[in-house]
This record gives sequence, structure tokens and C-alpha cells, in this order.
Amino acid sequence: MVSSTIITRRKMPVARLKGRVALVSGALRGIGRAIAECLAHDGATVIITDLDALDSAPVTEALSQMPGSAYLRLDATQESEWQAARDEVDKRFGRLDILVNNVGADLTGKVQDLELSAWHRLMALNLDSVFLGTKTFQPMLARTGETTPYGSSIINISSIMGIVGLGDVSAYNASKGAVRLFTKSNALEFADNGVPIRVNSVHPGFVDTPLLRKGMQNWAERDGTLTAQDLIDGMAQTTPIKRLAQPIEIGKVVAFLASDDASYMTGSEVVVDGGWTAR
Ligand SMILES: NC(=O)c1ccc[n+]([C@@H]2O[C@H](COP(=O)([O-])OP(=O)(O)OC[C@H]3O[C@@H](n4cnc5c(N)ncnc54)[C@H](O)[C@@H]3O)[C@@H](O)[C@H]2O)c1
Repeated sequence: MVSSTIITRRKMPVARLKGRVALVSGALRGIGRAIAECLAHDGATVIITDLDALDSAPVTEALSQMPGSAYLRLDATQESEWQAARDEVDKRFGRLDILVNNVGADLTGKVQDLELSAWHRLMALNLDSVFLGTKTFQPMLARTGETTPYGSSIINISSIMGIVGLGDVSAYNASKGAVRLFTKSNALEFADNGVPIRVNSVHPGFVDTPLLRKGMQNWAERDGTLTAQDLIDGMAQTTPIKRLAQPIEIGKVVAFLASDDASYMTGSEVVVDGGWTAR
């Protein structure tokens, strides 16, 4: 009897985000794109945001893959662009249930070789973008959160590099570690003040995206002895389950955190790394 109940439940169509509106930063490619697709799959109306123009081919393609979604051009490092996006979302949808602060880039190299301008640029992309998205959309998320059983949800994309250090990765480590703790203090600030927004961070391991491939190309050029493919193969070998993640494996976890299935989760750090940090 019990098992047939479980089987019946599994067969039911999943639309756990039906009626919810979500905004994802950096959502045309890589992990952000997969997150947008997973949220749309679960029934959310997704606002895809990125740097490309509205009439560009990547935007047309993304909108065709996610019927009912919308696109806004948004440079996530610019406060005025976040404010313009907020006004547009308010005008078109009147609510926001889910904010995914996904934009990020990498920077590797020894401290002695890093330029201050490159450090600042990385912090703008990885950290300012999270602060700005949160600050700008907090009032709308809080207002919307009052209308749903378990409130709204912010998910910040950090990294395993926000949990453990690695040589030559100090700038990226610093930025992602900051996202991890910003998430926790933000979660506590909201909970302490009765603001109905849950805030959690996701920490992917090595994910096969344009960012990872470009980063390994840069590393190989600096190293001079290994190819980018050697480095990627090495990453797979040092991962306990012996492969890189596909972006959708991160997207599914974000969709769970965005949903009422994660109603008791706030201030959590969710590691999705094939076992890399389990050692
Ligand atoms: N790929 C990995 O292995 C990995 C691992 C851990 C964490 N992450 C994190 O996941 C997130 C996404 O990484 P990814 O690998 O998918 O990156 P990606 O470079 O493949 O895709 C990033 C997307 O963000 C957009 N973007 C870049 N700058 C922007 C800006 N200023 N404003 C708006 N959009 C902008 C790009 O156009 C692109 O569509 C980042 O925060 C990254 O640090 C990635």
C-alpha cells in the first residue's frame, strides 16, 4: 500500500513553481542558463537577464526554449541597471518570488602577478552583483513573500572555492568566500526581522561551462606545459565521481531551493561537487 502511494506521487506532474516569477542574472549561458531552464520546467515565469542585446540570436534562442519567459538586458555590476530592471519587473509582473544571483567570472594567478584593476573587476562581478541584486530586489521579494506560504527565495551561486582555498586562486577564493558569508548574514538579518525571504548559497564543483573552458585555456597558456584538456581531465580525476558536472545538475538543486520543498532552509550552503570537498 505504502509503495503504491509513493509510486503514484512520483508519476504526478511537477509544477511546484507555477505562479512564481524568477529572475536569474547571467542566464544566457552555462550554469545560469541551466538554472533558468530548470525553474521554467518547474512552472516559473523566468526573467532571463544577461549582457546581450534583446534582438540578438542567443536571446531569441533562449526565449524559444523557455516559452512564457522574458528577457532583460542587465549588467549585474551596475546599480542603475538593477534599478531599471526592478522597475520593469514591477511594471510587467508586479512581483518577484525568486532571485538567483548567478553572474560570476574567474581569475587565477599568484598574488604578486595580479593587477589591482583585475582584482576590482572580479569583486564587481562576483560580489557587487550579489549585493546589488539583493539590495535592489529585497523590497519586492519581501512584498511577494507575504503572499506565499513560505516566503520568497534568494539563491547565491558561490563555489567550492568559497569553502576551501587553492593555490593561485586567491582572488576567486576571496570573492566566493565572501558570497558564502554574505548569504548567511543576509539570511539571519531577514529571519531576525521577520522579512519573508529565505537566502541560501550553492557551491558547485567543476562544471562544464564556457567559463571553465576559458579559465583552463588561460591557465594552460600561463603554465606552458599542460593543455586545457589535460587540466580538465585532471579536474575530473580529482573529483571522487570522476567527471565534471553538467550545468543542469546545478540547476535542479537551485530549483529545489527556490521551491516550497526547501521551506525550512535558510542560511544554508549546499555543496554540489561530486564529492570534491568530502575528503
Ligand atoms: N563553471 C564552473 O565550474 C563553476 C564552478 C563553481 C561556481 N561557478 C559559478 O557559477 C556562476 C556561473 O558560471 P558559469 O561557469 O556558468 O559562467 P559562464 O561564463 O559560462 O556564463 C556566465 C554568464 O554570465 C554572463 N555575464 C557575464 N558578466 C555579466 C554581467 N556583468 N552582467 C550580466 N551577465 C553577465 C555571461 O554573458 C554568461 O552568459 C559564476 O558565479 C561562477 O563563479 C562556476
